[in-house]
Amino acid sequence: MKKIIFILCVCLVFLLIVWLVGYMHNVQAEKVTGGYIASTRDTDVEIVDIDDLEDLAEQVIPSGGFGYIYGGAETEFTMARNESAFDCVDIVPRVLTGVVEPDITTSILGIDISLPVIAAPAAAHGLAHVSAEAGSARGVAASGTIMSVSTYSSSTLQEIADAGQGAPQWFQLYLSKDKDHNRNIVKQAEDLGYRAIILTVDAPVGGNRFRDKYNDFKFPLELPNVAKKSIKTKGQGINKIFSAAQNELTPYDIMYVKSLTKLPVIVKGIQHPDDAETAILAGADAIWVSNHGGRQLDGAPASFEVLSDVAKRVNKRVPIIFDSGIRRGQHVFKALASGADVVAIGRPVIYGLALGGWRGVVSVFNYLKDDLRRVMILAGTENIDDIKNTKLRPRISCVNSCE
Ligand SMILES: Cc1cc2nc3c(=O)[nH]c(=O)nc-3n(C[C@H](O)[C@H](O)[C@H](O)COP(=O)(O)O)c2cc1C
Repeated sequence: MKKIIFILCVCLVFLLIVWLVGYMHNVQAEKVTGGYIASTRDTDVEIVDIDDLEDLAEQVIPSGGFGYIYGGAETEFTMARNESAFDCVDIVPRVLTGVVEPDITTSILGIDISLPVIAAPAAAHGLAHVSAEAGSARGVAASGTIMSVSTYSSSTLQEIADAGQGAPQWFQLYLSKDKDHNRNIVKQAEDLGYRAIILTVDAPVGGNRFRDKYNDFKFPLELPNVAKKSIKTKGQGINKIFSAAQNELTPYDIMYVKSLTKLPVIVKGIQHPDDAETAILAGADAIWVSNHGGRQLDGAPASFEVLSDVAKRVNKRVPIIFDSGIRRGQHVFKALASGADVVAIGRPVIYGLALGGWRGVVSVFNYLKDDLRRVMILAGTENIDDIKNTKLRPRISCVNSCE
């Protein structure tokens, strides 16, 4: 009898230890993930105004994740200006042109696309939806345009390539201090069929994002493309992750990335004409004008405000991609008329994903297709070249109000 009681006690203690270990593990996991639950929606999204998606997405994305996605640097002055700057120029409508079915197709770096809008690279789509970048890639592919994939994506490059099923994808590189990792990740992207490397150069350090600080935001998910040697990404804030990347960036880094790949190298985060010149001299195959959606230097101009000066300097030597603040057809039109060849959208893709999964992403691109067509008809422009040849009119009242 004593023996049986002894054995029972040993079993009980053992079970207690197992339970305690499991409990501690869960508490730890709960601390790191913060009980993070991303959307599982799978539906089309009705869109009247893309700006409405912000409020709707806030209702389905947990607050830390939403703050990270929505937020800009500091008081978000530059972020707000990104959109309002488009109001400082007018499209003067042209009538009696007979335009009813404008052609919105175009091409960039040899890739034909169904509209002059592509998906910008953005970290951690898994914060918005369980399908993460794989879901976005499916939606972007179904929309007939290009998916840009961040080094900080939460799906693997393989998962994203599989979801795209051969549709065009570009890989955005944050250089790591680990040279082997740079070589391997670029090779992996190349082998998986990615068609360009985007080298982002505007983030040698993370912007001062107040929202992330107030929320004490830490990534609840792994970012599988970051060098394992440099940092464990889950449970870290973005500034820690940025600080583990290669922070010192010079034109030699463009040459270095060119030496790693045969793919075109696009330099992203250009805001000054001299920097565009430097990037082209270092071998850039395209220039991406962007202020990172107002997430880096608050107090910088709106991205749209620097576009024409950069375009003048580039003078068609290489294509120009533009982003930051694009939400409507008129924004696409104004950016193309100011020197961009295509534009990119960041947050709207993630909001579409959160609200409807891959179908929500398609809804966002469909909205922009319809809206751009409408603007083109009202402006009397038949195709993308017509838009590029349109002269915008500076809005006089805007110049005064900006003084
Ligand atoms: C949540 C989020 C994450 C981002 N992550 C990256 C990134 O990893 N690499 C990068 O080059 N740009 C990144 N960006 C910037 C976008 O590529 C793009 O420049 C910006 O979103 C455009 O502005 P928009 O959101 O107003 O369209 C990110 C933007 C957002 C909103």
